[in-house]
Amino acid sequence: MSDIAKLQIGESTYEFPLIKGTENETAIDIKTLRDTTGAVTIDPGFKNTGSCQSAITFLDGEKGILRYRGYAIEELAEKADFLEVAYLLIFGELPTEEQLNKFYSDILDQAIVDDDVKKILDAFPKNAHPMGVLSSLTSALTAFNPSSVNVDSEEDMYKAIVKIMGKFPVLVAWTLRKKQGLPLNYGSRKLGYVENILTMMFQKPNDEYELNPIMINALDKLLILHADHEQNCSTSTVRIVGSSHAGLFASLSAGISALWGPLHGGANQAVLEMLEAIKADGGDTKKYMAKAKDKNDPFRLMGFGHRVYKNFDPRARIIKKAADEVLADLGVSDPILDIAKGLEREALEDQYFVDRKLYPNVDFYSGIIYRAMGIPVEMFTVMFALGRLPGWIAQWREMRLRKEPIGRPRQVYTGYNYRPFVGKINK
Ligand code: ACO
Repeated sequence: MSDIAKLQIGESTYEFPLIKGTENETAIDIKTLRDTTGAVTIDPGFKNTGSCQSAITFLDGEKGILRYRGYAIEELAEKADFLEVAYLLIFGELPTEEQLNKFYSDILDQAIVDDDVKKILDAFPKNAHPMGVLSSLTSALTAFNPSSVNVDSEEDMYKAIVKIMGKFPVLVAWTLRKKQGLPLNYGSRKLGYVENILTMMFQKPNDEYELNPIMINALDKLLILHADHEQNCSTSTVRIVGSSHAGLFASLSAGISALWGPLHGGANQAVLEMLEAIKADGGDTKKYMAKAKDKNDPFRLMGFGHRVYKNFDPRARIIKKAADEVLADLGVSDPILDIAKGLEREALEDQYFVDRKLYPNVDFYSGIIYRAMGIPVEMFTVMFALGRLPGWIAQWREMRLRKEPIGRPRQVYTGYNYRPFVGKINK
């Protein structure tokens, strides 16, 4: 194949170079398009637009492949732990034991939040959605850590990264504790990253928290599966906000807000609420399948479909298996797991879903595991954010190290042409 794309506009032909990725994906480099032709491209939802070149995550939606820095998600979920994966995503290589120990020790040094942040948390009503609270508190960290990151200094960049890796789980746990009226607490240097998260979330003020290895493994796996997913809505948000040289915490706070929406990370909460509604309505999955296919009905089968996967989401396969195992290990029997499996079976055989290549995505089964672990539904998307944190950091770091220009799309204007001002108010 030639390495040139030709574009004809009217009588003129223009040439643009092709760029190849390491997995042979082809892109047309249109950096000079407007300057040479006067035209721009239009691509709502960026369905065909590559916003950057990235060496972090590879995803093949047709084949159902997901790899972080070249490692298959199946192997990472099976053999690695979350902090190891976080290090891999952010710094590009798996850590040695020594590197990982130092990384974690540096994170622990930063795992304390200014006590005044508690006053901000205190001002939120108890029924505030935890994602709104988390986004605000993450943004507030900027005020408590005002010095901007010098991205030309490896050391400065590293300090900002361990700071947020340390403080974020504390904020996550506090959003839950605030909701439940429990005193705010801290973890312990004696515990691992995931153990600390569970302890900070669930420890009762008058009791020891007994760590359950099944819960630790399940959470570890869920966090790994959510850790990065190339240029999705929230990650693109983090990169675009960061491209204005806004700080890391401000960029992350914007990413959390983007993740909240039910078409993105908020789907895990929406799935569980949907499954509960189907159960309350007698468990008639066929009725809801019909609703999902009815173009006059806004109902969508939450947890189904994906912008990029036109095959099984590999994360969904892993999570479905984990859901069975975790529920069995914890001795939990949840009727909505059967409803979910029934919906999946029907959808995979239904022409509407087959034609549109709609498969279960990562969030179809994750909520069932979170609930079995005792995590309230409103916290599900917060747990997703906790997992996605290293991915957002890695993408922000890559964007700043590559000195990418400010993100600023063009548009095609469709409003009025010039019209003279004739006021409608009698003065
Ligand atoms: N239920 C019913 N129909 C669906 C669904 C669904 N869950 N998802 C897509 N479709 C249909 C659309 O109606 C459309 O049909 P049409 O061609 O007849 O008009 C077709 O499939 C294509 O759908 P789009 O919305 O154009 O696909 P897009 O790539 O823009 O959206 C998205 C992807 C947002 C994930 C969508 O599938 C959806 O809304 N799913 C439910 C929400 C969800 O689970 N989100 C989590 C995604 S994973 C994540 O972010 C972590």
